[in-house]
This record gives sequence, C-alpha cells and structure tokens, in this order.
Amino acid sequence: MATEGQTLEQQLDELLDQERFPPPEDFKANAVISDASIYERAEADFEGFWAEQAEMLDWDTKWDTVLDWSNPPFAKWFVGGKLNVSHNCLDRHVAAGRGDRVAYHWRGEEGEELDITYADLHRDVQKLANALKDVGVAKGDVVAIYLPMVPEVAVAMLACARIGAIHNVVFGGFSAESVKERIEFSEAKVLITVDGARRKGKTAPIKSNVDEVIGDLVDTIVVVRRADNDAPMKQGRDHWYHELLEAAADECPPEPMDAEDPLYILYTSGSTAKPKGILHTTGGYLTGVAYTHRAVFDLKPDEDVYWCAADVGWVTGHSYIIYGPLANGATSVMYEGAPDYPDKDIWWEIVERYKVSILYCAPTAIRACMKWGAEYPERHDLSSLRLLGTVGEPINPKAWLWYWKVIGGGNCPIVDTWWQTETGAIMITTLPGVLEAKPGSAGRPLPGIDAAVVNEQGEDVGTEQGYLTLTRPWPAMLRTLFKEDDRFVETYWDKFGRETYLVGDAARRDEDGYFWIIGRIDDVVNVSGHRLSTAEVESAIVSHPKVAEAAVIGQTDEDTGQAITAFVTLEGSLEGDDELVGAIREQVAGRIGKFARPKRIIWADDLPKTRSGKIMRRLLRDIAEGRELGDVTTLRDPDVMEQLEGKIRERDAEGTG
Ligand code: PRX
Repeated sequence: MATEGQTLEQQLDELLDQERFPPPEDFKANAVISDASIYERAEADFEGFWAEQAEMLDWDTKWDTVLDWSNPPFAKWFVGGKLNVSHNCLDRHVAAGRGDRVAYHWRGEEGEELDITYADLHRDVQKLANALKDVGVAKGDVVAIYLPMVPEVAVAMLACARIGAIHNVVFGGFSAESVKERIEFSEAKVLITVDGARRKGKTAPIKSNVDEVIGDLVDTIVVVRRADNDAPMKQGRDHWYHELLEAAADECPPEPMDAEDPLYILYTSGSTAKPKGILHTTGGYLTGVAYTHRAVFDLKPDEDVYWCAADVGWVTGHSYIIYGPLANGATSVMYEGAPDYPDKDIWWEIVERYKVSILYCAPTAIRACMKWGAEYPERHDLSSLRLLGTVGEPINPKAWLWYWKVIGGGNCPIVDTWWQTETGAIMITTLPGVLEAKPGSAGRPLPGIDAAVVNEQGEDVGTEQGYLTLTRPWPAMLRTLFKEDDRFVETYWDKFGRETYLVGDAARRDEDGYFWIIGRIDDVVNVSGHRLSTAEVESAIVSHPKVAEAAVIGQTDEDTGQAITAFVTLEGSLEGDDELVGAIREQVAGRIGKFARPKRIIWADDLPKTRSGKIMRRLLRDIAEGRELGDVTTLRDPDVMEQLEGKIRERDAEGTG
C-alpha cells in the first residue's frame, strides 16, 4: 500500500504489481448494470438481447425480423423497421420535456463558451435540413462535411440524418487534397466546411485551401463562419451557413428511414493506398451506439456530464460525441482545441468548470499529460469524475495507473474500450459495474458480442497469441465498403469463412477470458490512435519529384504508441539533406495531413525486397528498432540490410534519429 512520503513515481511502481482493479463498492451499488447475469442472458438469446436494446429507440414501424444472416457477410438488422436517427437524437427528448437540457457545453479554443440545448439543436437541424433540400440534396445523396470541433458539425450530421442524406465526415486534420479524394470516392455533391479553423492561436485558411483543389467537383459549398478571415466565396456555388439558416423554413419533419438505409460513410485506412469507405446504416448502428454508450459509460443522463475528447472526424466522435450521447439524451462537453493551449491544464480546467463526471480519451493524450506532469491536473478540482475511458490503441499499464491515480483519484473505474471504425460501436471492454479491470487489457466482449483468437486455420488458440476475430454479427457492424462489395468480402470475411469477421489485430485471451490487444497484423500504423496505411504515406512520399522509392513502417514510440519511419531512396545520385527531409514531410502534410508526417526519414541506397519485388517491411521494423534481423533468406539482395544498418548507425551518431 502507498505510504506517506512516497513520490508519485514510487506509488505507481508499487501499483504495477496489482493485476486487478475491481469497481469501488459505491460505484457498483449505483451502476446502470451491476448484475453479471446480463452476459448469460445475452448469450442464451442474442437476437432477443439486441431486440431489447432496439426497443429503447423510437420506431415509426417496428421490425419484422431482428437479424437476417441468410447471405453472410451481408447482414440485415431489424428488417422492415423504420425510424429516423435525428428524431431519436432530438425530437423525442424535446417532446418529453427535455428541450432545455444542455446537449453540448461547447468550449472554443479562445475560451468562448456556448451552451447548446436539445431545443437549440432541434431548431437548427430542421433549418439546415430544409436548406440542404433547397440546394437540391435528396434522400440517398452524399454530403461531405469538413469541419473542426464546432457545434455546427453536430447540426450538419443530424440535418443529413433527418432527410436521409448520407454524410461523409472528413477529419479536420486531413489536407484539402484528402478531402477532394474522399469527395470523389463518395460522389458527394455538397460540401459543408468552414472559413478558417483555429488551432493554438493560429487560423488555418480552410476554405481557400479547399478552393485550390476542388475545381467543380461539388455543386454547393456551405461555409460556417468561424474565423471571419475573408474566405473566398464563389457566386452561385458557395453559401454562408448562417444565411442559409436564416432563410430556411423552420419545420422539417424527419424522413422515416428503413433500418438498413445508409446513415454515413467514413473513410479509414487499410492495407492499400486507397482508403476504405466504411458504410454504416440506421437502425442497427443507433441501437449499438446507444446501448454501448449507456452500458459502458454507466450513463445517467439526468446527472452526468460526459466528455469524449476525441475529434468528431473519427469514428469515436461519430459514435460517442454525436450519436450515442444524443440518442441517450446526455449532456456532453465539446471542446474545439488542443490539450496544451493556452496551457497544459486546459483539459482539467474544463473538467472542473463543467463538473465532468465521465471522461473518454486516447492513451496518447494520457501519456502526454503524464510527461507534462501531475502539477497540471493538481491545479484543479477533479472530484466530479467518476468514470474514465480510453480508446484507439493499447494502453501501457504505467499510463493506465497514472490515469487511475492522478486523474481518477484512485476511485474511478477505467474502461479500456476496444473497437474499430468497422465495428461502429465498442466491442470489448469491462462493464464497469460488473467486471474488474486489468491494466493493459481491454477486457471481455460485451454482452451480445462474441470474439475469438484463432490460428491460421481458424482454430481457437487458447491463451496463445493469434488473429482476433468476431464470431457473430452485431447490429452496428459495417454493412459493406461503399461501392466495393468485393473488397469488403475479401478484406474481412475471406480468411475464415463468410461468418467470421477478421479484425486485423493480433490478440491474446487470458484464463479469465480477458483480451489483450497486441496491435495490427496488416500494414496499418496507429499514430496517437490515428489509423494510417503505410501504402498511403509511401505514395505521398514518392509523389515528391526527388524521391525514387519509399517504404514506411510504424516504429514503437513512447509518446504516440507508434510513429512513422520512412526509408527513402532518391532519384539518380541525389543526396538527402535536412532541407529534403523538410520538403518530404511537407509533401506528406499536403497529401494526407500533418498528423501523417514521418517522424524519422532514413536515406537508403536500396530497399530490402523479396525476389518478386515486395518490400520486406518486417526487416525494416527489425532494423529500425535495433532488433536481431528475422529470416532474411527470401531477400533478393542480402547486402541491402548491411548498408541500411550503416545508415542508421550514422544517423544515430549524428543525433538526429
Ligand atoms: O488496432 C486496434 C486499435 O485501433 C484499431 C481501430 O482503429 P480505428 O478504426 O481508427 O478506430 C479507433 C477508435 C475506435 C483497432 O483495429 N484499437 C482501438 N481500440 C483499442 C485498440 N487497440 C488496443 N486497445 C484498444 N482499446
């Protein structure tokens, strides 16, 4: 046990020996779910279990069949049912007298504050929905959304849902070039964006960046005024958001949607350079996110203030800033800015200010806070917190313990939630009123979900490491890749038969049935919880005229989980220098976004390839991390590795590595 006079470091070191953290008794006594029998109940009748969760939504027409799995992997949930997502997120709360409840305490980067109630959202969503109709958006059309963390992003998503348009949100950190590409892939005709985005006291000229690449790809651009930076507006094509809202009619009845109608597309990175358009539909998705948001975060909508500190441009934001919380009538915090601006205590100031009771963020953020030191959270009263969550990457036990001790004061359960863009909702975690947590393990599949760890033949490997799979369909599962059914089947359902979902992660299951996620098995890198394809980054690097070839790997990084290291060969006899490092990093920022810039660039004369010409990234990972090289027998030219080792030694000696 911790004793007086111990440093925080010593206390955390001692806690490293504690493997299990049961929920505090008072937490358990008041938990939304505290009865472990929910697992058996869901197991005994998983369709019945999901139907029960779906009943908590408002349906215009009830479904005939809970699950149609007659044509795997193409699942249909709540077949024949009709509902509208924006009605479920707004109208039913307003009708029940909760219109005055705050949906979002919005906090701008310069300290601006705005409380947006359910009634406010309901009003603006109807107006924007009408405005979208006025510019020709109809049910089934795709609307691209490229916005920072401003309240209008929620309005835009819900306005699409209201009229049955499919939104395609692009994370604000992506470059205009990436937005253009995603607009092309999704065939969006309308873009909703912003004049400028604030970041750490600066303004990025978003609209003019978009204008540089967009051509006449879209018919309409709706522009939110945030920066007032004289953004260029093209007559006839571009409209100010606030002017459209002013002119639009007040009432827009929600369109009754089929349970299987698309709700949104969200592009995510895969093994190839072309991102995958994950398609989520209406009834199953909303059921999945509403249920998991309530159960995993132990949500008590009348009391809690919930804060998911992710960005709305990733799936975490879609499911747990927008749809889950709003479906449950929760009060959330939405924060526009960075965690270290104006100072490194801004998050904790926000927790104190809004009395946040549930905080959900990424391990990378926790590691950054840990590095900055406990003095920042200690400046603030964090006693309102009662539950903490993490998502996006494995959390190392040290960071877990720091979060538990320094942020949670040692009495908040932590839920480490494993899921993906594809799964739509949380799949593996510890129900906080039921299960104890083990630092570093995500926990067990939620009630209604089944997972297995298997070998190459699809056989259960007991407690060994293997492929993580999901062995049963679930309501929030992706339905396909937008316009790429074949790729959908090949990527996720070919390896172990059409009824087993291949996750793409390696994992291990322990004796208690707890899953320990090891990491990706494909060429996907996880930088600060941001998913990137090595092929995507390589293709951005080789688009630089001086580059001949590039190979990218994810290298273990103590801050960001993984960081990008690029091995680059140059054209002809060109020599690499610092200037070129900068130029290549800029090239990647322009093509993908700043978050994808390589941390390390290593000049190579040649790259290790198999005889058939495939780059052996495995060897590059070994060499970058200073490990003994694995099997080199398939290498076409064994000398390559020796040369590379020399380069790395040189670089490390220069101290620039
Ligand atoms: O490798 C796993 C990792 O993030 C991947 C999914 O990334 P994305 O689709 O961008 O969604 C992230 C947010 C849901 C997974 O295949 N991952 C996600 N959560 C965890 C995790 N790895 C370990 N522990 C987690 N809790």
